[in-house]
Amino acid sequence: MVLHDRNIGAARRGIAQLDETVVNRIAAGEVVERPASAVKELVENALDAGARRISVEIADGGKRLIRVSDDGHGIPAGDLPLALARHATSKIDGADLLDIRSFGFRGEALASLAAVARLTLTSRAEGAAEAAEIRVDGGRGGEVRPAALSRGTVIEVRDLFHATPARLKFLRTDRAEAQAIGDVVRRLAMAEPAVAFTLTDCTGEPRVSFRADAETGDLFGALAGRLARIVGADFVDNAVRIEAEREGLRLTGFAALPTFSRGSAVAQYLFVNGRPVRDRLLVGALRAAYADLMSRDRHPAAALFLDCDPQRVDVNVHPAKAEVRFREPGLARGLIVSALRHALAEAGHRASTTLADAALGAMQAGPDGDGPRLYRMHRPGPRALSAARAAQAPAGWGGALDEQPAHPGFAEAPSARVEPPADDAPTHRPLGAARAQLHETYIVAQTETGMVLVDAHAAHERLVYEKLKRQAAESGIAAQALLIPEIVELSDDDCARLLGVAGDLTRLGLTVEPFGQGAVAVRETPALLGPVDAKGLVHDILDEIADMGETTTLGARLDAVLSRVACHGSVRSGRRMGADEMNALLREMEATPHSGQCNHGRPTWVELRLADIDRLFGRA
Ligand SMILES: Nc1ncnc2c1ncn2[C@@H]1O[C@H](COP(=O)(O)OP(=O)(O)OP(=O)(O)O)[C@@H](O)[C@H]1O
Ligand SMILES: [Mg+2]
Repeated sequence: MVLHDRNIGAARRGIAQLDETVVNRIAAGEVVERPASAVKELVENALDAGARRISVEIADGGKRLIRVSDDGHGIPAGDLPLALARHATSKIDGADLLDIRSFGFRGEALASLAAVARLTLTSRAEGAAEAAEIRVDGGRGGEVRPAALSRGTVIEVRDLFHATPARLKFLRTDRAEAQAIGDVVRRLAMAEPAVAFTLTDCTGEPRVSFRADAETGDLFGALAGRLARIVGADFVDNAVRIEAEREGLRLTGFAALPTFSRGSAVAQYLFVNGRPVRDRLLVGALRAAYADLMSRDRHPAAALFLDCDPQRVDVNVHPAKAEVRFREPGLARGLIVSALRHALAEAGHRASTTLADAALGAMQAGPDGDGPRLYRMHRPGPRALSAARAAQAPAGWGGALDEQPAHPGFAEAPSARVEPPADDAPTHRPLGAARAQLHETYIVAQTETGMVLVDAHAAHERLVYEKLKRQAAESGIAAQALLIPEIVELSDDDCARLLGVAGDLTRLGLTVEPFGQGAVAVRETPALLGPVDAKGLVHDILDEIADMGETTTLGARLDAVLSRVACHGSVRSGRRMGADEMNALLREMEATPHSGQCNHGRPTWVELRLADIDRLFGRA
């Protein structure tokens, strides 16, 4: 084994105060981790100075050059050396570290940058006759000289970390660093919609890589405009407005519908008192709000702004101020979870419009030839389809079951059953009037502005789930006794695991009892499900319990189990539905919260607007 020589055993050295340049370089290691952190500090300073227009220029991923120019109130020439001194700030007087209303307050960002780079600070204070500048290289230098600048402040940072080569080695590629800078600028631009931002990459020919003009209008209008610019117009189109307040804590912003989820947490933007944060508590609350609306490998998209009296949140807990501590963490979490759940439930049956766009995009022109032009939908092969059909056929929703054997293959399935339009058809309802059922799976409905395609199986599953949840919350889920208990054989471990939650399962309408060694007897199943495959249900619940582990809260575990239970109520063989039955399903979807997606976050319906269909046929 190799032991690092840490001077252990060497002659003791006397204690000495470190040189100020060294102190600053050590401190810089915390504040300025990479070029993006330098950009963050400089842009925050510009915002603190009341800038309306901020321009960021970078070269070589910020390693060679970072230049931030603003039109803020500037710095008087006499204060320039102080601006670069450590622990010198104009933003707080130190009397109350819990009363922080600006991005900066420590007075160490510029000192740190000056210690590890070549920094030039040029500024013209409001009302000053001329501008002045100061230059520092690796912490040395610093004479104030007259300069030319019409207003505001320009800070130029060249050769970042040239004074600390060790740090330089740890930087990522120019591309990765440039990307991180883009992310920082976008997040700050989101926090301040009224300020104009540009980010220019000057590595070769200068190229504007991000631009956002100042937004006007009310809070939500300006924010929506800025979010459309940064995250994309489809995010705003597919998001619900969040506006809630509880005990002086205010939450505003936009949260995307569950069907607009992402494969990673890239589209989560969280702000506390206007400061972009990556806070575990808030991210956890966001996840919890969507917990039973999407599968665990999907991530919600949202831009949320939490505002409160600065006294109630400590921002001085992280070197880059990326994390905060709430005085009442439970309150913040509760507000986010309840506000989002409420808003998403109100959005109810709304599914995301991007899905319709994707569906339209999938309709492609056939090969160009002499014959008529064909439009064809991309679709999976017959084998995949019949397998999918076996699992997806519509379920015995509501009314009388008219069970029919599943059709063995796609080709033999009757292609459509068309219902004659009734005069009093509810086309004015959001989900319209049912017109036909396709492949015994999809309902086609006509609305005022186009058509709606509903996956009846997925929709039904969601409705059953919501009903079960309601019953569970109100009076416990009604159970139906089996005439003959079903015996399910299991490993001893599984038996023990299942019987360990038997009490909870009873409340969910499922009664299981021990039945000798290696088996349980299922005596009752949830009445809502109708006749059900008890063995499959028990195995599924065991999977769910194993999946969730011990760490998840009981409530979340029960919800997950319920979602599995609902799945069982819905998977039945293909079945035709009458017009009344289909319309009743549509009406129930309209009235049910969260019916826009199934329990796995897949959409239950998509809308194709007439205008889009017209466009598809070249009628527009
Ligand atoms: N763009 C700017 N416009 C006007 N004044 C500025 C600008 N940048 C810096 N200053 C002045 O220089 C001071 C030092 O800036 P610096 O970023 O080092 O510290 P801070 O912002 O006060 O605190 P923190 O270290 O937390 O960022 C600021 O307090 C401010 O008075
Ligand atoms: Mg600062």
